[in-house]
Amino acid sequence: MKPKLIINGAAGRMGKRILSLAIAAAELEIVAAVDSKDHPDIGKDVGVLAGTSPVNVKLTAAYPPAADVMIDFSAPAAADACIDYCRQNNVALVLGTTGLSDAQIEKIKTASQKIPIVQATNMSVGMNVLFELAGRLAVMLGEDYDIEIVEAHHRFKKDAPSGSALTLAGNIAAATGLAWPDCLVRGRSGKDALRRKNTIGVHAIRAGDITGQHNVIFSTLGETVTLAHTAHSRDTFAHGALRAAKWLIGQKPGLYSMTNVLGLK
Ligand SMILES: NC(=O)c1ccc[n+]([C@@H]2O[C@H](COP(=O)([O-])OP(=O)(O)OC[C@H]3O[C@@H](n4cnc5c(N)ncnc54)[C@H](O)[C@@H]3O)[C@@H](O)[C@H]2O)c1
Repeated sequence: MKPKLIINGAAGRMGKRILSLAIAAAELEIVAAVDSKDHPDIGKDVGVLAGTSPVNVKLTAAYPPAADVMIDFSAPAAADACIDYCRQNNVALVLGTTGLSDAQIEKIKTASQKIPIVQATNMSVGMNVLFELAGRLAVMLGEDYDIEIVEAHHRFKKDAPSGSALTLAGNIAAATGLAWPDCLVRGRSGKDALRRKNTIGVHAIRAGDITGQHNVIFSTLGETVTLAHTAHSRDTFAHGALRAAKWLIGQKPGLYSMTNVLGLK
């Protein structure tokens, strides 16, 4: 029997790509595709919604009685219900939603004592390698290099800066000993906006349909080193989420990252 999968936020931009790839791969059985009760597509076949042929699973607002794993790419307002459901029903959780509150991060930590959870602000292989490299590069270059992160996303993205930009900055702070999150400078404007030492600048561009770009700039007098990542389509995140879901089934309770899923360390 195939492991049973729930997709939460199934009618969204990410949800549809996860549906489409999960249907094509046929390694997991989609037992529920869940979205907000107000979504206009509730009741429609999710195969049709995802652009494949009908699969006899309707978009619903209700979680099923049982499943092995849930993939969530919805919204922060939906996160509490989905974490509670997974904890209460022993369902492993792959959480891709960004912009979560500190209280929700604590809730995830508590739930991970009972169920396995993968939480990642970016599920692509390349970005997760970059997460690791950014901290190491900052240490190798030393403290005279100013660090600035510039990210660009589509006009519909709600949170800023991106979860990935914050993960990059957090990893750099952890590797270099910068005070987190005090070292973070979000954008810069005004007459007294001189760059301060021991800070990491983070800048968010929102335009058109850019899937996701992150540049980490390390610059000193005389040279600049840039780490750059471009997501060409949402499939890179969707493939990562499905890989994480398959990896997570059968793992012990705990809070895992894509670094664990990909075996990066
Ligand atoms: N971790 C990653 O790799 C990664 C990659 C891309 C996007 N994201 C994040 O994933 C989230 C979704 O992104 P998107 O571009 O697909 O957004 P989207 O707005 O297109 O889709 C979100 C979907 O969630 C649904 N939703 C809202 N409330 C809900 C509820 N209570 N229960 C179930 N579903 C509900 C919405 O109706 C919508 O269909 C965002 O937080 C985004 O930042 C993460």
